[in-house]
Amino acid sequence: MKITKAVIPAAGLGTRVLPATKAMPKEMLPIVDKPAIQYIVEEAVASGITDILIITNRGKGIIEDHFDISPTLQDTLEKAGKTAQLDAIKDIHSLANIQFIRQIETKGLGHAVSRAKTFVGNDPFVVMYGDDVIVGDIPATKELVDAYGTFGKGVLGIKPVSEEAIKKYSSLKVENLHDNVFKCTDMIEKPQRKEDIFSLYSILGRCVLPPEIFDILEHTAPGAGGEIQLTDAMAELARTVGMTAVEFSAKRYDMGNKLGILQANIEVGLNHPEVGEGLKEYIKEIAATL
Ligand code: UTP
Repeated sequence: MKITKAVIPAAGLGTRVLPATKAMPKEMLPIVDKPAIQYIVEEAVASGITDILIITNRGKGIIEDHFDISPTLQDTLEKAGKTAQLDAIKDIHSLANIQFIRQIETKGLGHAVSRAKTFVGNDPFVVMYGDDVIVGDIPATKELVDAYGTFGKGVLGIKPVSEEAIKKYSSLKVENLHDNVFKCTDMIEKPQRKEDIFSLYSILGRCVLPPEIFDILEHTAPGAGGEIQLTDAMAELARTVGMTAVEFSAKRYDMGNKLGILQANIEVGLNHPEVGEGLKEYIKEIAATL
């Protein structure tokens, strides 16, 4: 079955990036000249997704504005003959069929995803974490969607992380099937004790889920941090029917923490046609003084 729907949870409070995120959603923080969430929508579209539900909350209205048309701005750019600038904005609203829903209370990623039940219906769908930007030649979501086509089970986008980082992420019980493809039979969110760590493989920002996840989420109790964790619901799926995990090839940037934002801007900036060369010179210059 072709996967055409994606859900982007973007209703978190972004407390790790305060004060930047006091009034500005972290999903709208720029990487060079584009907000993080536009990279995510573009990755979805490049992976065959046509319908996207973005989950927001109070104070995130500018995400909706970004994916709307801007008649005054477009007119002004057109009259001024600023073609390049006009080209950069005029098609954003038609990248995909984008809808929005609010998560009234910030009760965790699992709770946010459960808001998508009506949108998803009976189809498998992709979840793209709104603060994880993944950049590379092969879209990560496409690799996951392809693995769903092969194995017919929920798919997790994974990467190995450090022992220090695993305590803040999830840890997966995986067995390699071939190359970058694994079988996943269990997982834990934010393992604090060494004996709870299954492996250093963690879910980083993308998964394909069957619609059965909504029944599981209905009885998923609050877990780590008192939040309803998507990982806890997916653990039930992994332990019962099993899941597939794919170590995706593109590079992931965590826009939910300060260092991640800087890394994304530097690396994407270095490859940017307009500022890449200038940035390279600047980095060499300051690196010599460090
Ligand atoms: P995070 O846990 O990284 O986001 O959730 P957060 O809660 O904003 O992080 P802090 O406050 O800096 O620790 C991963 C993704 O899930 C969304 C977030 O917007 C982010 O894209 N999320 C999280 C929700 O949509 N709703 C929630 O209740 C929690």
